[in-house]
Formats: sequence, structure tokens, C-alpha cells
Amino acid sequence: MKTFRILAISLAGLAFAGIAQAAGGAKHPHAPEGGWPFEGATGEYDLASVQRGYAVYKQVCSSCHSMKLMSYRNLGEKGGPFYDPAYPNPNDNPFVKALAADNEIVSPTPNDIGEFEMRPASPADRFRSPFANDAAARAANGGALPPDLSVITKARPGGASYVYSLLTGYPDFEMYEDRVTEANGETVYQTVIDMAKFDKLGADKPQHGPAYLIQPAAQYYNPYMAGDTKPNYLGDPRHAPPGGFLAMAPQLVPDRVEYTDGTPATVEQMAHDVAQFLAWAGDPKLKARKETGLATMVYLGILTILLWFSYKRIWRKVEH
Ligand code: HEC
Repeated sequence: MKTFRILAISLAGLAFAGIAQAAGGAKHPHAPEGGWPFEGATGEYDLASVQRGYAVYKQVCSSCHSMKLMSYRNLGEKGGPFYDPAYPNPNDNPFVKALAADNEIVSPTPNDIGEFEMRPASPADRFRSPFANDAAARAANGGALPPDLSVITKARPGGASYVYSLLTGYPDFEMYEDRVTEANGETVYQTVIDMAKFDKLGADKPQHGPAYLIQPAAQYYNPYMAGDTKPNYLGDPRHAPPGGFLAMAPQLVPDRVEYTDGTPATVEQMAHDVAQFLAWAGDPKLKARKETGLATMVYLGILTILLWFSYKRIWRKVEH
């Protein structure tokens, strides 16, 4: 009886989870064209892309998002984007040292007179945090807290594909329109987006326009963000666009980052690279893990064959 009750509750829970998902109705994240190189049993990170992704994080995201679980030395560890076999200890790697020194941090330990000085980071230091604490981060971001990105690809369904889809999913700037209306004798200024013109919605795009979505102040519409657009949609609420609003404005515009390897910095390329960098940060031992997994499978396979033959041999004289 007890088992039955537990089962019934779990099933009901699952059903509600399904409803919540449906109401959230964000678009399903998708991988960049060609998929991710790190997927599958033998997939590995494209380290050149992870290197560029670090540049995107450093030059764009790190002004708002911390990565508190990462140290600069991680960049130069085996499997990391700046690993150099000449320096098995990344603390000695001059390139990693230079990357670290490019960040001014507050020293985690006080000096002789008890003050916390600013100094260039060393490979042993954690990534520089943009804000002293969460309150300061919220104050600078209209009350919203930019989440730490250390393990964001593990924390959100869809992982790297979610980060990629979110960053590339915003409407283009040209799509925002100013709308002036009268309400209770007062003039109201709003920013709206005509969903009928928003091609990125694909099959979810309204067939007949204009179908305006009102963007709340300091919030930005994104079809991949979990949320609800119905209260802000001026069209048929049954066909409200997927997604929701978040406090992060679109961050990537072409050539926002200068790539040293000459790769053209399109929005898709930067989103692809930073998502792959974040996937690496969240799972830096992926290569070693897959290699061990594969070796274990081969070992178990050989063991199975050996066991089969010894079983045949041991029981060969027994009738059955
Ligand atoms: C100007 C500050 C700022 C910059 C720069 C910025 N973000 Fe954000 N980001 C935010 C804020 C604020 C939020 C929280 C939004 C909310 O919860 O409404 C956020 C949220 C996110 C989220 C979580 C969305 C969710 O599902 O909750 C991800 C992922 C993200 N940012 C990735 C990035 C990446 C990658 C970059 C660099 C390309 C970047 N951000 C640059 C401010 C910023």
C-alpha cells in the first residue's frame, strides 16, 4: 500500500512537472549547425574554439558573470584550452601566467599592515569576480543576479545548446519599436516587438501581423528563456510566443570580440565558442572520463568472451 502511495505521488508530481513545462513553453534549445564536437562516446572539445570562448568570456561576460570555481591554472591543465606539454605544471606556463596577470584582483590574503591590496592575478588565483558580492551584482543589474557561470551548462537543461540558443535567440535591435499610447489620460511609452516579423521563431511565428509583444522596462524578450509572455502579448493569448523575459540585454554583436586566430567574430561564432568554453569549464575531465569509459568497455568485452569460453570448458562433461 505504502509503495503504491509513493508511486501515485511520484506520478502526480511528474504530471505537474509536465504542465509547468508546458506553461513555461520556452523554445527547445538547439546545437549550432554541425552539432557539438564533444558529444558521443569519443567526442572531444575543439580546443581552438574553447580558447576563443575564453576570450569571449573575458572580454564580454566577465564584466557581469563570475566563475568562482575556476582558477587561471585550470586553463593550462591537461585537457584545458591552453595546455602545453612543455609545462606539465600550469603554474609555470608563461602563457597562462600572462592570461592570469591580465586580471587585477583583490588579494585574498592581507598584506603586512592588514590591507587587501589590488594585484595582478597569478595562475593559482580564482577567476576575478566582477562584483564584491551578490548585493553589489544585483545593484548593478537592475535587481537581477547574473548567475555564476562555472557550471551553468550543467545547471540548465540543454547545457551548451541552451547557452548558444539563448545568446543567439534575441530579436535583432532593428525589431524593437517605440509605441506611444494613452492610458487614463497619460501618455505611455513602451518598447514593443512585432512577433510577426521575428523569423527566428520558426513555426511559432504568428501568421498575421502585427502581433506586438510589450517588453517590460529593463527586461529583454528571449524565446529560449523560461517564462510566460501571455500578460505582455497584445495578440491572441492562446498563441503567445514561446519564452520569457530576462534582465540580460543581448550581449553579442558582430566583432564585439577580436579573435587573435583570425576567425570572423560573427554572433553565432562567438556564441558557439563561449558555449563550448562553458561546457569545458563545467566538465574539464571529459576526455579522461571518456577514455577510461572506453577502456573499461573493451576490458569488460574481453572478460565476457573469456568467461564464456571458461564456462563452456568447465561444464563440457556435464549433461544438461
Ligand atoms: C551587462 C551584464 C551582463 C553581461 C555582460 C552578460 N550577462 Fe548574462 N546575465 C546577466 C544578468 C543580469 C542575468 C540574469 C537575468 C535574469 O535572471 O533575469 C544573466 C543571465 C545569464 C544566463 C542565465 C539565463 C537563465 O537561464 O537564467 C546565462 C546562461 C548568461 N547570462 C550567459 C552570459 C554569457 C555567456 C555572457 C557573455 C557572452 C553574458 N551572459 C554576459 C547580465 C549579463
